[in-house]
Amino acid sequence: MNIRKINIRIEEYKDAGSLSQEDRSLLQQAKEALNGSYAPYSEFHVGAAVLLENGVIIQGSNQENAAYPSGLCAERVAIFHAKSKYPDVKVKMIAITSAADNFVTTSPVTPCGACRQVMAETENRQNEKIRIIMKGQEGIVQAVNGIENLLPLMFQEEKLKKPKHK
Ligand code: THU
Repeated sequence: MNIRKINIRIEEYKDAGSLSQEDRSLLQQAKEALNGSYAPYSEFHVGAAVLLENGVIIQGSNQENAAYPSGLCAERVAIFHAKSKYPDVKVKMIAITSAADNFVTTSPVTPCGACRQVMAETENRQNEKIRIIMKGQEGIVQAVNGIENLLPLMFQEEKLKKPKHK
């Protein structure tokens, strides 16, 4: 038996003011995206902004449904919109933030497993890492360069293929 340790790297900033201009302005776009959130059931709003390699920014927000599983997270709304509109343009960064109706969110909103998997697919397809920036209404900002920092041992297309050596 062997224990394998995996290192993940998470940048932490005390507030948005400590970020680079590029990170800060994308987070601002994510905050703006909160206006489109439809979350009457959870009363928890999420906004996302995707920066594409061509400079275009695509916003997305969570969209809920009375049949709960039919809703979709902000991250996937934004990423799928980006892929639909600009199928050949790479995703450079995604910023995500949250706001709740009944309390102040004080820790960064970290994407759910399904959204991480979609980010993994995007990175794999474009063969380039995505920078992911996460913040609540208040408190620290966290950022990672590459989905492997949020989804170690991820499932990827390679796993669907017969191994080359064996
Ligand atoms: N949600 C997101 O949009 N993104 C996340 O990263 C976490 C959760 C949404 C889904 C649902 O509409 C609400 O937040 C509560 O889970």
